[in-house]
Amino acid sequence: MPLANSTPREGGSNYIPRRLIKIALPYMSEEIKQNILSILDSKQFVQGKFVARFEQSLSAYLHSKHVIAVNSGTAALHVAFESLKMAKAEKGQEDGNTTSKVSPEVITTPLSFAATANSAIHAGCRPVFVDVEGETFNIDPSLIEERINENTLAIEPVDAYGLVANLERILEISRRRKVPVVEDAAESIGASYRGSKVGTISTMTCFSTYATKNLHTGEGGFISTEDDALAEYSRLIRNQGQLSRYNHVSLGYNYRMLEFCAAIGLDQVNKIDELNSRRRKNASFLRTSLEDLGCFSFQKVNDPEEHSWYMFSALLDEKTAGITRDKLVLLLKERGIEADVAWPLPIHLQPYYRKKFGFKEGDFPIAEAIAKCVFQVPVHPYLLAEDLEIIVETIKEILKDRAQ
Ligand SMILES: Cc1ncc(COP(=O)(O)O)c(C=O)c1O
Repeated sequence: MPLANSTPREGGSNYIPRRLIKIALPYMSEEIKQNILSILDSKQFVQGKFVARFEQSLSAYLHSKHVIAVNSGTAALHVAFESLKMAKAEKGQEDGNTTSKVSPEVITTPLSFAATANSAIHAGCRPVFVDVEGETFNIDPSLIEERINENTLAIEPVDAYGLVANLERILEISRRRKVPVVEDAAESIGASYRGSKVGTISTMTCFSTYATKNLHTGEGGFISTEDDALAEYSRLIRNQGQLSRYNHVSLGYNYRMLEFCAAIGLDQVNKIDELNSRRRKNASFLRTSLEDLGCFSFQKVNDPEEHSWYMFSALLDEKTAGITRDKLVLLLKERGIEADVAWPLPIHLQPYYRKKFGFKEGDFPIAEAIAKCVFQVPVHPYLLAEDLEIIVETIKEILKDRAQ
């Protein structure tokens, strides 16, 4: 079915989309524009009153004791690992232990964005991958414990696409083995786990507020924690280790958030639940409509209210559908639907990781199988009912064309 006003294109597809149905649309408002102008006038551009207000309002929203804003989700993770190292070093000094020469290790999932593991490497840690659960696409808790040893700095679950990892089992291991949990919640703001909001459950929770995220600041991120010492270390590390001006008590980085970014995010904190509930409705429509086609399966979501629906992911059964995942995504794009593949390669199979750590195909078979057939279609809160119909109808058309 060509879209309403499409006309044949020379040498290519017959489809010229009316308009692109984007995979993500960043929130914008008049209030943000006014605040940005006021920041320009104030000449205070970095970590000023908007960052402070943004942190306070996130604390109130998450019911979390400390929120530390930084300039990316990757920085949030890096700061979290560095803070845990500082805490460990401090404790080691109290116990009279000498510093270990062996790299600390972070146990994590290969089915994620590279920043999940890159940030551990930034902190001088070795990423130790374990495979994911086929049903949830999240780290398999039953594989974590056997990888814990005296060098383990943290367990780092990822809430893939906005579905919170199995924190009950992970936290049980964490408590018993005394290994902290750094949750990569880059994709799960507003999500919850068995009634508790993401941000207050793990030892440290790290969010991204990159432009495509459910709550965005253009670029940015933040850490949320209940632990006073870890919060204090995090504040030091984000600002060159300065306790006061030009008084550097630890190594640190420039991970400060810009006022402009905080002003963009601030206006969304009290809207995030409403925006996420629109995503949930869209996801429900997409799932019900695509389920009927018989060639898709989905992340197992026990309670859709607890998912942030950052992405709507489906697995394509290529044999039943008669089309490859990559071809389906390409045809959707040609027809004006910005489908995506996150992530086409698990982290361990990325060239850098293969080369540095010697990972190979077959190391984490479930993550690899998911990466081969997973894809996403738009689910963001600004989709119109008509957009959702177009997404479903276009998929049906592509599959029908293949069947003939
Ligand atoms: C799962 C995951 N972890 C970490 C990050 C890194 O966040 P940022 O891009 O803000 O550095 C992202 C961002 O896309 C992500 O999706």
